[in-house]
Amino acid sequence: MEAELKRLVMRSPFEVRVPKPRREGEATLLYPFDARIAWVAACHHRTSSRISWDLFSSEAVRLEPLFEELLPSLRADDRLPAASALRFSVDLGSAHDFEASPLQLRGVVKNAIVDALKPRGVTAEVDADSPDVVFVARRAGTPEHRRTVVGIDIGGGARHRRGARVTSGPAPLRETMAAQLVMLSRWDARSEPLVDPMAGGGTIPIEAAGLAVGAAIRKPGDLPFRHLAAFDGLPSEVPDLFPGTTPRILALDIDAERIGTIVGNLRAAGLTGASHEQSIVIGQKDVRTLTPDDVMKLLPAARDMKPGVFCFNPPYGVRIGGEAGEGKLLELYAAMGRAMARFTGWRAACFVANPRFVEAFGHAPIMTKPATNAELPGAFLVYTL
Ligand SMILES: C[S@@+](CC[C@H](N)C(=O)[O-])C[C@H]1O[C@@H](n2cnc3c(N)ncnc32)[C@H](O)[C@@H]1O
Repeated sequence: MEAELKRLVMRSPFEVRVPKPRREGEATLLYPFDARIAWVAACHHRTSSRISWDLFSSEAVRLEPLFEELLPSLRADDRLPAASALRFSVDLGSAHDFEASPLQLRGVVKNAIVDALKPRGVTAEVDADSPDVVFVARRAGTPEHRRTVVGIDIGGGARHRRGARVTSGPAPLRETMAAQLVMLSRWDARSEPLVDPMAGGGTIPIEAAGLAVGAAIRKPGDLPFRHLAAFDGLPSEVPDLFPGTTPRILALDIDAERIGTIVGNLRAAGLTGASHEQSIVIGQKDVRTLTPDDVMKLLPAARDMKPGVFCFNPPYGVRIGGEAGEGKLLELYAAMGRAMARFTGWRAACFVANPRFVEAFGHAPIMTKPATNAELPGAFLVYTL
């Protein structure tokens, strides 16, 4: 997350340095607020799940003390929207250790917002269907220091929803995780080809193409910026941040049905047509028989490039294959390992939710990072081949 933000801000229209974030647990980075950095993150950042502009933080774990602290804090807060009428909603993040039900917590935050804005002449009303601004309440912090935090969602909700996927394969990887996988592989789009040999619905190739050119995933007009004075004067357009880059990506799958799925999803993401023809190539192929020669034939531009990167997520056996398929799955992992051994100098990065993958694949990972996809615990693994 951190490396991606730095890279994006460096190529953004703003002369600003990204400060070092504070880490909170495994999954949260806290940055001091700067509207320009927040604008870049909200429009372009692909690896984050949510982006909150935190306004309030308290140790309160019960409703009454929370309301007593939250109301005066919001009353004095000049960052809140100032329009005469405001439609808003309150989303809840993880709040399992708050000592009231999620519904009650949401209710208290809603009441505090309405009461805080009333003296300013702002009529605020809840509209969950088309809110101008979404507030987020969540429990956060480290196990020793838990806090209740209220912020404004400036990232347009759950960010894995890119709005582009029309159909998915049987076990799609979440878009934010696909982007994390590509970042972890340290793919250099200017000098290395990227191959997803089991592309399913094409999530990884699509995220790779977006990362390569720095394409936006949200438009400023779809975000709450116009209601927040801090974002006044920031751009309303979002051109690619790395416009000169032509990535070379190969998306393969053994299943003929998946080929149509990939084409449909690439089209929905605006990644088809003459300008992308040589950039993203799709093919039906069994990874077990894949050779460097096949890659060069399918993706001729790769001949002039450095050794490339495999980014993939193989079938796990839980949702595909079932228990009876476990033996077959391990055979597949082993055959993949042998096929990839032909690609000397390449790297491979994958997300796998099967603990027996590492042994069967037969290469030693240089990095292992636990992660969860659709409630299946697994790990990102990175290899040099
Ligand atoms: C977990 S899914 C990949 C999901 C994909 N990353 C996405 O987000 O849509 C695994 C894919 O591996 C493909 N596959 C299984 N065996 C294969 C093989 N031997 N060669 C190539 N692809 C294979 C399946 O058809 C399936 O689409």
